[in-house]
Amino acid sequence: MDMKISQRSQQLQPSATMKISAQAKQMIAEGLDVINLGIGEPDFETPKNIEEAAIAAINDGKASFYTPAAGLADLRTSVAKRTAADYGLTDLSAKNVAITTGAKMALYATFQTILDPGDEVLLPEPYWVSYAEQIKLAGGVPVPVPVGETFKATTKDLAAKLTDRTVAFLLNSPENPTGVIYDREELSALNDWTKAHDLMVITDDIYGQLTYNGATFTSIAQLSDHLDPRIVIITGASKTYSMTGWRMGYAIADASLISKISAFLSHATGNPTAVSQYALLEALAGEQGQVELMREAFEDRLNTIYPLLTEIPGFSLPVKPQGAFYLFPDVSEALKLSGIKTTGELVSRLLNEAHVALVDGTAFGVQNHVRISYATDLASLKTAMARIKDFMLQFKD
Ligand SMILES: Cc1ncc(COP(=O)(O)O)c(C=O)c1O
Repeated sequence: MDMKISQRSQQLQPSATMKISAQAKQMIAEGLDVINLGIGEPDFETPKNIEEAAIAAINDGKASFYTPAAGLADLRTSVAKRTAADYGLTDLSAKNVAITTGAKMALYATFQTILDPGDEVLLPEPYWVSYAEQIKLAGGVPVPVPVGETFKATTKDLAAKLTDRTVAFLLNSPENPTGVIYDREELSALNDWTKAHDLMVITDDIYGQLTYNGATFTSIAQLSDHLDPRIVIITGASKTYSMTGWRMGYAIADASLISKISAFLSHATGNPTAVSQYALLEALAGEQGQVELMREAFEDRLNTIYPLLTEIPGFSLPVKPQGAFYLFPDVSEALKLSGIKTTGELVSRLLNEAHVALVDGTAFGVQNHVRISYATDLASLKTAMARIKDFMLQFKD
């Protein structure tokens, strides 16, 4: 018999951000001077105190064994306490927390737990690449929601896509790929609307600590002092603590939902890697100075490259982003100027000719945009902006 591949897998697209990044890394390995602005990964090494806690856990023999599927009890308690303090939620305990293999698995487990076949999830465009694929893998239907120029979904935008199959709304703020942050008033309107239509809200708060130039982060989960059972908070350590490789994420929700998520995890991953859990314990309990230093570095990078980007012919980004570490300019004019037909082709020519890796915005559901990650050192960012500018200048008369 020939190999069999399920229909589910056949319709699955590989992660576009991981693909471009792998291509850039391959070119770098071949000795080419490529600057990779394709990846959503902080370039800092994980803070030393966290690495040392992991080494100590190994040396003490603690990292050798299975832990509970939803994570170590102490770690769940620590996440609950931190979230309660940060979000002003009064009644969180370990039972509200599942530790997962990255926020990616927290999202995957959530979709598997809440969606039935045909259930629709509202996804404001642009949206992070994995949401749509994960929703489909759970039998659900991702419903892209076009939004206005500010890149923020309003209740009117959502209402246009509401059907009797809609069960959930996915919110990501600060957002990947636009860097926009929803304010309290906007969140309040969205919260009231989702409540009125009895929708779950999955709030991906993974960039919540990365806000710049005085902007502040509010989560939709923070609007009341009790965690609403309709809301699932998804977050993790990857971006805040520069711990992408450790794969530490968490879902925070009503205890009965978390117990179902834990049951799912017990069959899917078993526990998240024990040594990483000890590292996360230290990340949460240890001193937080490095977190602020990394945030300041991102702020500096944003403030340096945003003006450089606006000088590139054909690249337009009128509103400066406030969070995460991405810029999502409109490149319609760049396509017109250059005669290049698609953003895919533009990205490919920038990689091969200017040696800068960006991501095609269509991966996030939006035409005529590219995503630029500034999770790279300042010197490389400046060089990359100069290379893109030079590439575009060749098309000016
Ligand atoms: C919006 C968003 N959510 C979730 C994740 C997943 O992060 P991780 O699985 O590393 O915790 C990412 C990573 O790029 C992201 O950008």
